[in-house]
Amino acid sequence: MAVRPILTAPDPRLKVVSTPVETVDDGIRKLIADMTDSMYAADGIGLAAIQIGEPKRIIVMDLDQRDGNKNPRHFINPVITWRSDELASFEEGCLSVPEIWEDVERAERIKAEYLDSDGKKHELEADSLLATCLQHEMDHLEGILFIDHLSKLKRSMLLRKLQKAKRLKDAG
Ligand code: NI
Repeated sequence: MAVRPILTAPDPRLKVVSTPVETVDDGIRKLIADMTDSMYAADGIGLAAIQIGEPKRIIVMDLDQRDGNKNPRHFINPVITWRSDELASFEEGCLSVPEIWEDVERAERIKAEYLDSDGKKHELEADSLLATCLQHEMDHLEGILFIDHLSKLKRSMLLRKLQKAKRLKDAG
């Protein structure tokens, strides 16, 4: 297991569409362990494989760790099979878009299918933060960041802010 660096926007790799996992083997489980370590080290609640530079359709998530209990979940090849018409708005952030939080509107409830780290298929109905987080992470698999849901004007403003912060960090 290893903590790996997390890519940040505007790194072009974050725009890559990830490919499905063909076989859930030890290599995939090792990648999931690295993703989970990297997520915890960065104090995040979700991470997609492409965020550590691996274009595979894998997500790790832990929505409960803020209470001090680690309860990681893994989603391999997740697919949304249903979305509610009702929308919900949450203030989102992203480890690849550091220090920026903005409201994003998404389906309030979804149904999804995915494989677990043993390759077993599961179905899930999600609402609230889990539904939002799954949709956010699944966007990463398509090369989409949460700021891509904002207006073009707002997005370029935020990207400029991000690049300025990066330069300051590199200089300091
Ligand atoms: Ni993200």
